[in-house]
Amino acid sequence: MRSTVGWQVADSSSTLRRTPLERRDLRPDDLAVRVDYCGVCHTDVHAVGARSGEGDRPLVPGHEFTGVVTATGHAVTRCAVGDPVAVGNIVDSCGECAMCRAGQENFCHTFPTLTYGGTDRHDGSTTLGGYSREYVVRDRFAHPLPAGLDPAAAAPLLCAGITVWEPLHALGAGPGTRVAVAGLGGLGHLAVKLAVALGAETSVISRSPDKAGDAHRLGAHGLVVSSDPEQMADARDRFDIVIDTISAPHDLGPYLRLVAMDGTLSHLGHLGPVTVETLDLLVGRKKLSSAGSGGRPATAAMLDFCARHGITADVEVLPSAQVNEALDRLRRNDVRYRLVLDLSDLDLPESGVRTG
Ligand SMILES: NC(=O)c1ccc[n+]([C@@H]2O[C@H](COP(=O)([O-])OP(=O)(O)OC[C@H]3O[C@@H](n4cnc5c(N)ncnc54)[C@H](OP(=O)(O)O)[C@@H]3O)[C@@H](O)[C@H]2O)c1
Ligand SMILES: [Zn+2]
Ligand SMILES: [Zn+2]
Repeated sequence: MRSTVGWQVADSSSTLRRTPLERRDLRPDDLAVRVDYCGVCHTDVHAVGARSGEGDRPLVPGHEFTGVVTATGHAVTRCAVGDPVAVGNIVDSCGECAMCRAGQENFCHTFPTLTYGGTDRHDGSTTLGGYSREYVVRDRFAHPLPAGLDPAAAAPLLCAGITVWEPLHALGAGPGTRVAVAGLGGLGHLAVKLAVALGAETSVISRSPDKAGDAHRLGAHGLVVSSDPEQMADARDRFDIVIDTISAPHDLGPYLRLVAMDGTLSHLGHLGPVTVETLDLLVGRKKLSSAGSGGRPATAAMLDFCARHGITADVEVLPSAQVNEALDRLRRNDVRYRLVLDLSDLDLPESGVRTG
């Protein structure tokens, strides 16, 4: 086994503690990656909060990271030691089902192996995420990081970015389409940047009127304040695509009413059961959809698009020792627009004091 160190919750609290971790020895098609930067996704907050404390497996969150290859298994040909790579929230899939054959590993019929909290297909171990100095990953699921993308600001592309890219692309966002993004957070701000770069007329729907300036800076046309009934009524039937990234459970009705005839609400944020008034779909023949993460070809296409258009996340980089504060800030909606952990402090002794 390979020894590393990371941020783990192992008890019933929601506090992550610096913990020695083990990674598997490299299989022939594995890479070892030195994790440099890992984004803090709201799913990490949900995962920490979902722990009951009893019988839970230890949790190391983190599923959007960039780093550098430090070792390769003997069958690896796609990359070499020293290459910059990026890893998202899928680290394996069956490779044989119709979804995998179509390049939609994110929808693998046997469910993709998640980067953390998943079960390894070979040894049955629980996967431990990227809040860690090293990750061992099957080479197919490490994406070359295009030159020109800042590794810290590119890390969030691997979950937040690809999660909004796939539906925008699948639903045809581009010139002549009107896109609205509900919830201006980590996913939301990347959805705005991507939709604008795809050529769509893009708006934001937010509870926070003070985000209007940021919405404009990101290229949005306008901001609809979701708590203002008049503004919501004015925006009725206005958007061909609504990308809903809201992190809390909410009534879909008000957002469906903003969808234009034959348009689609893509519900990506808070996953779980929802109640839908069918009349909100019937009037205007509207569609309700969802999506999650992305397949390998779409991830490569998204990274290429971002490199060509100079798109990365708006990030605030924190030493990884501030991970608990980072999660708290995300819970309080005090992030504009993605916190990214710099894992290099894990090379220092635990006190974090540099010694010469
Ligand atoms: N489908 C997938 O595969 C996938 C992948 C990644 C993440 N997710 C999920 O997507 C959601 C967003 O993640 P994120 O990292 O972007 O989170 P985030 O940065 O915290 O952004 C979420 C945004 O939702 C809005 N919001 C929060 N609470 C709300 C409430 N009670 N009512 C209305 N709006 C509210 C806020 O925007 P305003 O201030 O603008 O209102 C907030 O900025 C999370 O639930 C996450 O688990 C899903
Ligand atoms: Zn995520
Ligand atoms: Zn499969």
